[in-house]
Amino acid sequence: MTSSSAPADLEPHGDPERFRHVLSHVPTSVVVVTGTCGDTDHGMVIGSFTSISLDPQLVGFYPANTSTSWPPIRDVGRFCVNVLAQGQGELAGRFARKGGDKFAGLEFDRAPHTGAPIIPGIVAWIDCVLDREIELGDHSLVVGRVMDLCVSQSEHPMVFSRGAYPSLGD
Ligand SMILES: Cc1cc2nc3c(=O)[nH]c(=O)nc-3n(C[C@H](O)[C@H](O)[C@H](O)COP(=O)(O)O)c2cc1C
Repeated sequence: MTSSSAPADLEPHGDPERFRHVLSHVPTSVVVVTGTCGDTDHGMVIGSFTSISLDPQLVGFYPANTSTSWPPIRDVGRFCVNVLAQGQGELAGRFARKGGDKFAGLEFDRAPHTGAPIIPGIVAWIDCVLDREIELGDHSLVVGRVMDLCVSQSEHPMVFSRGAYPSLGD
Protein backbone atom coordinates (compact mmCIF):
# COMPACT_ATOMS: atom_id res chain seq x y z
CA MET A 1 0.00 0.00 0.00
CA THR A 2 1.25 3.52 -0.76
CA SER A 3 0.52 6.66 1.20
CA SER A 4 1.66 10.25 1.00
CA SER A 5 1.64 13.26 3.27
CA ALA A 6 1.24 16.90 2.27
CA PRO A 7 4.41 19.02 2.12
CA ALA A 8 5.05 20.67 5.51
CA ASP A 9 4.56 24.21 4.10
CA LEU A 10 0.99 23.43 2.90
CA GLU A 11 -1.58 23.62 5.73
CA PRO A 12 -4.97 21.91 5.19
CA HIS A 13 -7.83 24.46 5.52
CA GLY A 14 -9.54 22.54 8.37
CA ASP A 15 -13.04 24.09 8.07
CA PRO A 16 -15.50 21.15 8.29
CA GLU A 17 -18.52 23.19 7.11
CA ARG A 18 -16.69 24.21 3.95
CA PHE A 19 -15.60 20.60 3.44
CA ARG A 20 -19.21 19.38 3.79
CA HIS A 21 -20.59 22.14 1.57
CA VAL A 22 -18.13 21.64 -1.28
CA LEU A 23 -18.34 17.84 -1.14
CA SER A 24 -22.17 17.99 -1.15
CA HIS A 25 -21.79 19.11 -4.76
CA VAL A 26 -20.33 15.75 -5.70
CA PRO A 27 -23.33 13.51 -6.47
CA THR A 28 -23.28 10.01 -4.98
CA SER A 29 -25.16 6.77 -5.23
CA VAL A 30 -27.52 5.82 -2.40
CA VAL A 31 -27.34 2.19 -1.27
CA VAL A 32 -28.33 0.29 1.85
CA VAL A 33 -25.65 -2.12 3.09
CA THR A 34 -27.38 -4.98 4.90
CA GLY A 35 -26.11 -7.91 6.92
CA THR A 36 -27.39 -10.51 9.34
CA CYS A 37 -25.72 -11.33 12.63
CA GLY A 38 -27.38 -14.26 14.37
CA ASP A 39 -31.12 -13.48 14.35
CA THR A 40 -30.63 -9.75 13.90
CA ASP A 41 -30.72 -7.90 10.59
CA HIS A 42 -28.74 -4.69 10.21
CA GLY A 43 -28.74 -2.00 7.53
CA MET A 44 -27.35 1.46 6.92
CA VAL A 45 -27.54 4.02 4.12
CA ILE A 46 -24.24 4.55 2.34
CA GLY A 47 -23.43 7.28 -0.17
CA SER A 48 -19.78 6.35 -0.59
CA PHE A 49 -20.33 3.09 -2.44
CA THR A 50 -18.24 2.52 -5.57
CA SER A 51 -16.89 -0.22 -7.80
CA ILE A 52 -13.16 -0.81 -7.30
CA SER A 53 -11.82 -3.66 -9.42
CA LEU A 54 -13.07 -5.87 -12.27
CA ASP A 55 -10.49 -8.66 -11.83
CA PRO A 56 -10.97 -9.66 -9.08
CA GLN A 57 -14.43 -8.14 -8.74
CA LEU A 58 -14.23 -5.76 -5.79
CA VAL A 59 -16.53 -3.01 -4.52
CA GLY A 60 -16.09 -0.63 -1.62
CA PHE A 61 -17.60 1.95 0.71
CA TYR A 62 -16.63 4.05 3.72
CA PRO A 63 -18.48 3.48 7.04
CA ALA A 64 -17.96 6.02 9.83
CA ASN A 65 -16.12 4.87 12.95
CA THR A 66 -19.28 5.89 14.89
CA SER A 67 -21.53 3.50 12.95
CA THR A 68 -23.38 0.98 15.11
CA SER A 69 -24.69 -1.01 12.14
CA TRP A 70 -21.33 -1.75 10.54
CA PRO A 71 -19.49 -3.57 13.40
CA PRO A 72 -21.92 -6.54 13.62
CA ILE A 73 -21.89 -6.83 9.81
CA ARG A 74 -18.08 -6.76 9.89
CA ASP A 75 -18.12 -9.55 12.47
CA VAL A 76 -20.00 -11.92 10.16
CA GLY A 77 -17.92 -10.76 7.18
CA ARG A 78 -20.80 -10.82 4.71
CA PHE A 79 -23.06 -8.11 3.38
CA CYS A 80 -25.41 -7.20 0.56
CA VAL A 81 -25.41 -3.81 -1.18
CA ASN A 82 -28.98 -2.71 -2.04
CA VAL A 83 -29.07 0.01 -4.72
CA LEU A 84 -32.10 2.19 -3.94
CA ALA A 85 -34.44 3.31 -6.71
CA GLN A 86 -35.53 6.88 -7.33
CA GLY A 87 -38.58 7.47 -5.13
CA GLN A 88 -37.43 5.24 -2.25
CA GLY A 89 -36.87 8.24 0.01
CA GLU A 90 -38.83 6.69 2.87
CA LEU A 91 -36.43 3.73 2.89
CA ALA A 92 -33.41 6.05 2.72
CA GLY A 93 -34.71 7.87 5.81
CA ARG A 94 -35.47 4.63 7.63
CA PHE A 95 -31.96 3.22 7.11
CA ALA A 96 -30.17 6.51 7.81
CA ARG A 97 -31.50 6.77 11.34
CA LYS A 98 -29.70 5.33 14.34
CA GLY A 99 -31.13 2.54 16.45
CA GLY A 100 -34.50 0.77 16.51
CA ASP A 101 -35.62 -2.05 14.24
CA LYS A 102 -35.03 -0.58 10.80
CA PHE A 103 -36.71 -3.60 9.19
CA ALA A 104 -39.99 -3.33 11.12
CA GLY A 105 -42.96 -4.06 8.84
CA LEU A 106 -40.70 -4.66 5.83
CA GLU A 107 -41.02 -7.92 3.91
CA PHE A 108 -37.77 -8.82 2.24
CA ASP A 109 -35.88 -11.64 0.50
CA ARG A 110 -32.41 -12.87 1.37
CA ALA A 111 -29.32 -12.74 -0.81
CA PRO A 112 -28.27 -16.15 -2.15
CA HIS A 113 -24.71 -16.21 -0.87
CA THR A 114 -24.73 -14.16 2.32
CA GLY A 115 -28.35 -14.42 3.48
CA ALA A 116 -28.36 -10.64 4.01
CA PRO A 117 -31.64 -8.78 3.45
CA ILE A 118 -32.62 -7.73 -0.08
CA ILE A 119 -34.95 -4.75 0.26
CA PRO A 120 -38.07 -4.69 -1.97
CA GLY A 121 -38.21 -2.28 -4.91
CA ILE A 122 -34.46 -1.76 -5.29
CA VAL A 123 -32.73 -1.41 -8.66
CA ALA A 124 -29.91 -3.89 -8.06
CA TRP A 125 -28.14 -5.91 -5.39
CA ILE A 126 -24.53 -6.96 -4.96
CA ASP A 127 -23.80 -9.82 -2.56
CA CYS A 128 -20.32 -9.64 -1.01
CA VAL A 129 -17.91 -11.15 1.44
CA LEU A 130 -15.59 -8.85 3.35
CA ASP A 131 -12.19 -8.80 1.67
CA ARG A 132 -10.43 -6.22 3.88
CA GLU A 133 -10.99 -3.05 5.89
CA ILE A 134 -8.53 -0.17 6.04
CA GLU A 135 -8.71 2.58 8.70
CA LEU A 136 -8.80 6.06 7.17
CA GLY A 137 -9.36 9.03 9.50
CA ASP A 138 -12.82 8.95 11.08
CA HIS A 139 -14.04 6.40 8.50
CA SER A 140 -12.67 3.15 7.14
CA LEU A 141 -12.51 1.76 3.63
CA VAL A 142 -14.39 -1.53 3.38
CA VAL A 143 -13.55 -3.70 0.38
CA GLY A 144 -16.04 -6.41 -0.60
CA ARG A 145 -15.44 -9.35 -2.89
CA VAL A 146 -18.47 -9.80 -5.15
CA MET A 147 -20.05 -13.26 -4.89
CA ASP A 148 -23.24 -12.60 -6.87
CA LEU A 149 -25.09 -9.60 -8.27
CA CYS A 150 -28.29 -8.80 -10.11
CA VAL A 151 -30.25 -5.92 -11.66
CA SER A 152 -33.74 -6.44 -10.29
CA GLN A 153 -35.66 -3.73 -12.11
CA SER A 154 -35.14 -0.94 -14.65
CA GLU A 155 -36.06 2.03 -12.41
CA HIS A 156 -33.62 4.94 -12.22
CA PRO A 157 -31.29 4.58 -9.25
CA MET A 158 -31.48 7.13 -6.43
CA VAL A 159 -28.85 9.89 -6.43
CA PHE A 160 -27.81 12.18 -3.55
CA SER A 161 -26.69 15.68 -4.50
CA ARG A 162 -26.60 18.99 -2.57
CA GLY A 163 -28.50 17.47 0.36
CA ALA A 164 -31.41 16.12 -1.70
CA TYR A 165 -32.47 13.23 -3.93
CA PRO A 166 -33.01 14.87 -7.34
CA SER A 167 -34.89 13.05 -10.12
CA LEU A 168 -32.86 11.72 -13.00
CA GLY A 169 -34.17 12.31 -16.52
CA ASP A 170 -34.10 9.56 -19.16
C1 LIG B 1 -27.47 10.02 1.53
C2 LIG B 1 -26.72 9.46 2.73
C3 LIG B 1 -25.45 8.94 2.55
C4 LIG B 1 -24.73 8.42 3.66
N1 LIG B 1 -23.49 7.91 3.46
C5 LIG B 1 -22.81 7.38 4.51
C6 LIG B 1 -21.52 6.78 4.31
O1 LIG B 1 -21.00 6.71 3.20
N2 LIG B 1 -20.90 6.28 5.41
C7 LIG B 1 -21.47 6.32 6.66
O2 LIG B 1 -20.86 5.85 7.61
N3 LIG B 1 -22.69 6.86 6.85
C8 LIG B 1 -23.36 7.39 5.81
N4 LIG B 1 -24.60 7.94 6.02
C9 LIG B 1 -25.16 7.95 7.39
C10 LIG B 1 -25.67 6.58 7.80
O3 LIG B 1 -26.67 6.10 6.94
C11 LIG B 1 -26.23 6.63 9.22
O4 LIG B 1 -25.33 7.27 10.07
C12 LIG B 1 -26.45 5.24 9.74
O5 LIG B 1 -27.35 4.49 9.01
C13 LIG B 1 -27.02 5.25 11.13
O6 LIG B 1 -26.07 4.87 11.99
P1 LIG B 1 -25.81 3.35 12.45
O7 LIG B 1 -24.69 2.80 11.59
O8 LIG B 1 -25.39 3.59 13.84
O9 LIG B 1 -27.07 2.56 12.27
C14 LIG B 1 -25.32 8.45 4.94
C15 LIG B 1 -26.62 8.97 5.11
C16 LIG B 1 -27.32 9.47 4.02
C17 LIG B 1 -28.71 10.01 4.22
